[in-house]
Amino acid sequence: MPNDASSLSPSITSMIRLDHMHVLAASHRYHASTPWWRKRAIVNGVCDALEIHAQLEEEIFYPALDRALGNDETLSKSRSEHDEMRATIAKLRAMGPENAAYDGLFFQLIREVAHHVADEETILLPDAERVLKSELQSLGAAMTRRRMQLLGERPMNIAVNAAGTFPIAALLLGSTLLFALRRSLPKSRRAERTRRQYE
Ligand SMILES: [Fe+2]
Ligand SMILES: [Fe+2]
Repeated sequence: MPNDASSLSPSITSMIRLDHMHVLAASHRYHASTPWWRKRAIVNGVCDALEIHAQLEEEIFYPALDRALGNDETLSKSRSEHDEMRATIAKLRAMGPENAAYDGLFFQLIREVAHHVADEETILLPDAERVLKSELQSLGAAMTRRRMQLLGERPMNIAVNAAGTFPIAALLLGSTLLFALRRSLPKSRRAERTRRQYE
């Protein structure tokens, strides 16, 4: 029987989709003509969000899918794509926005991420919704708890990025904001909203 927090949590697959959407939307704010200080804020925010998202998937989502699917080719490919993404992030972090290669490297990162996200959204998330049905909400709650721990380990980064006029809190907190908002709604409003969904 799931506990109250788990039963209120969005599913892990909804959270992952929301994270993807936030990162890709944030990347669209970056243009070659964007001022250097804003480029750096966007890149730092996107890189932090991607690192946290990849770690959450590797610690919580992929192992659950592994248990249910066994040896899955798309899952192994996804893990190695995370490593490639981290290598690109390390190069970007070692480079300043004044470097002529910075724009190209950031756009390369976003192309890699878009390709990876497409595989997750068309293959892994539908697989998870098929084979992990009863666990999706408890996995979502576990992901929220772990995300809060990971965010606690990098408060300085968040403070610096927030100063760059970039909506970094939404990007890093991702679906946690949605979870908190949902929990803060009075039960009667939640029930009313649920009832309307089925009318
Ligand atoms: Fe991933
Ligand atoms: Fe993902």
